[in-house]
Amino acid sequence: MRTLVITPTYDERDSLPSTLSRLRAAVPATDVLVVDDASPDGTGRIADEIAASDPSVHVLHRPGKEGLGAAYVAGFRWGLERGYDVLVEMDADGSHAPEELPDLLDAVTRGADVVLGSRWVTGGAVVNWPRHREVLSRGGNLYTRWVLGIPVHDATGGFRAYRREVLEKMGLNGVASQGYCFQVDLAWRAVQLGFRVVEVPITFVERTRGRSKMTGAIVREALWRVTAWGVRQRLTQLGQLTQLGRVGRRARRVRGR
Ligand code: GDD
Ligand code: MN
Repeated sequence: MRTLVITPTYDERDSLPSTLSRLRAAVPATDVLVVDDASPDGTGRIADEIAASDPSVHVLHRPGKEGLGAAYVAGFRWGLERGYDVLVEMDADGSHAPEELPDLLDAVTRGADVVLGSRWVTGGAVVNWPRHREVLSRGGNLYTRWVLGIPVHDATGGFRAYRREVLEKMGLNGVASQGYCFQVDLAWRAVQLGFRVVEVPITFVERTRGRSKMTGAIVREALWRVTAWGVRQRLTQLGQLTQLGRVGRRARRVRGR
């Protein structure tokens, strides 16, 4: 199982080196791809320096900040082109413990197609998260479950593993989500395509260095996109019901003749 850990960075100069060294120690056999959006703080240069001394670390430089979703799509393409079997998402700021990655990869080995590191299942936790972020995450996940009806407790989390077939079948070209709703987007697509999506408990530890890139615009994008997907799904179901009704009536007419 050739595994690639993709970690997007924007101004993570003070976190990236320790995250990468923890990762190399925890899962020495996996490769790493840092996807940097031309961070003004020089994170890209630091990533290049690490890559120069460690052949399993790679860096993808993008010209500017285009959001988490766009960075991951570029990273997935890079990994699929190079034949990796499993592609992992992980934040660079230390919130996702590399030491927990073997648990996620074990679930893939046991047959999962997508493994979601989950804060909101038994055994999962968050440490040092401000109250408003916890409320937002719990509320966002409740809303997502209600609107989309997906059987997932943490659809917004960003510590995950995908089998390559899942990403190939999704068609990454159609993914328009830019911000953190990218996470919901991919979970939703995987469920709809009938893949085996499994949640594994993780402990999310709030960063101690740098700052979050979460903005009001990111929250608003998530809200309108999730709502639009939900409405579209209801309309499709309604359309199918109407069609069924029509077919049923036609069958009865034929039988009655
Ligand atoms: N390349 C790139 N471009 N990287 C980005 C961008 C971007 O536009 N925006 C954020 N990142 C990187 C950060 O540098 C970090 O490594 C990771 O993505 C997560 O960003 P944070 O800003 O630290 O996110 P958070 O801690 O507020 O949010 C976490 O929780 C969200 C809600 O559950 C993350 O786990 C998100 O993935 C998750 O959706
Ligand atoms: Mn973070």
